Amino acid sequence: MRIGLVGSGGREHALAKALAANRERDSLIVFANSINPGIQRLAHRMSLGSLSDSKAIANALTSEGVELVVIGPEAPLIAGTVDELRGRGILAVGPTRLQARLESDKSFMRDLLKRRVGWGSPQWCLARGRAEAQDFIHQIGEVAVKPLGLTGGKGVKVMGTQLAGEDEAVDYAAEWIARDGMVLLEERLVGEEFSRMVFASDNGFVPMPVAQDFKYAFDSDSGSMTGGMGSYTMADGTLPFLNDEDLRQADQLIGATLQAIAEDTGTPYRGVLYGQFMVTAKGIRLVEFNARFGDPEAINMMSLLQSDAPHLFMEVASGRVDKAIVDFAQKASVVRYLVPQVYPEALAGPLIFDFNEKEAEAAGLDVIFASVAPADGGRLQALGSRTLALVGLDSHPDVVARRMDSFLAAHLPDGLRYRRDIGAAQIIQQKIERMRILRLEGGV
Ligand code: GLY
Repeated sequence: MRIGLVGSGGREHALAKALAANRERDSLIVFANSINPGIQRLAHRMSLGSLSDSKAIANALTSEGVELVVIGPEAPLIAGTVDELRGRGILAVGPTRLQARLESDKSFMRDLLKRRVGWGSPQWCLARGRAEAQDFIHQIGEVAVKPLGLTGGKGVKVMGTQLAGEDEAVDYAAEWIARDGMVLLEERLVGEEFSRMVFASDNGFVPMPVAQDFKYAFDSDSGSMTGGMGSYTMADGTLPFLNDEDLRQADQLIGATLQAIAEDTGTPYRGVLYGQFMVTAKGIRLVEFNARFGDPEAINMMSLLQSDAPHLFMEVASGRVDKAIVDFAQKASVVRYLVPQVYPEALAGPLIFDFNEKEAEAAGLDVIFASVAPADGGRLQALGSRTLALVGLDSHPDVVARRMDSFLAAHLPDGLRYRRDIGAAQIIQQKIERMRILRLEGGV
């Protein structure tokens, strides 16, 4: 089968590996906005262009005779690439343009939950003026200020971390009101975040293992917010600070949202829905929805997936999903991104480095390429964002974390760094203890 893949980051390299696992049977046709050396070597053909140009994407993929298209990033979904492909009779994994508003328009998402689901959101307010923002912030105490559109995870600011107090929060809210005419303000949530992604189609949804993403640039959640420095999963598919009721509620909220969006748009949601949740002292709350796989979480999932990925994605795109075709290894997984020292700030000049994949593989680690290009002499050039990821599987995340630490002690390329706490036993234990105390305080 000819399979189209859209995107060029680490998430898409992980998807490419799963989709091109049987290269005698399937060939991969890729549309990307830059050359990812990992994807390039798996692709039968590759075209470059804007990921927001749905017509160019559909033209490039249909001219290669693809039967199925898997879309990684949000930009092509928001641009209506699924609508464009389905209009040409091509099966696609991903929501339509209207459904992708679950991710691209935070006020749409909060409004949908309020109207159609009735629970799951923190207290929120769509402020259209400085005075309205000030009143809400004063009434709630601590808030998160969220621009309505996409800001690559860098526009959201939270009181107590990026915003020092009420005045700073009001000023920041006013900045976005001046720019967009409105801004979303939400009660600040305190607890532990988790990522629940599901494969969704006409007949329901099948959840993937729960992951935890580490968004801050440096160890102990310090520094700026990033796209995600890494993530881990446990062998039993849940996280040790969650209880059965937390997960049941998360899945219930996802199910109710899928039903509401299908009814409101008149089209079943066929793709991946990613709920980013916070478990708090008062129960779970939805932080945001993404209309796609998370990055890095997709790397965990594709490493754990044991099912035939082309068959699974074809079924989802055709309107069917069933537990029987979704099989994940019962192992823990850890993903850690290596990034430029200055990330998420921009590189001041070219960063060229050597990295030997075979040595990583010999240490039991798989290599995923992201924002990196081939350079002369078999070297690599970091392009500025997350450069490459290491992923490993074992009985517990800590086993993988230690393996990564000892490999990187000898092989970390000059100019790159990573977070050492992702997957480490001590950090997981701290999270369990923190949630235990929060639940005692909250009485849940
Ligand atoms: N891991 C967060 C995201 O993909 O948006």
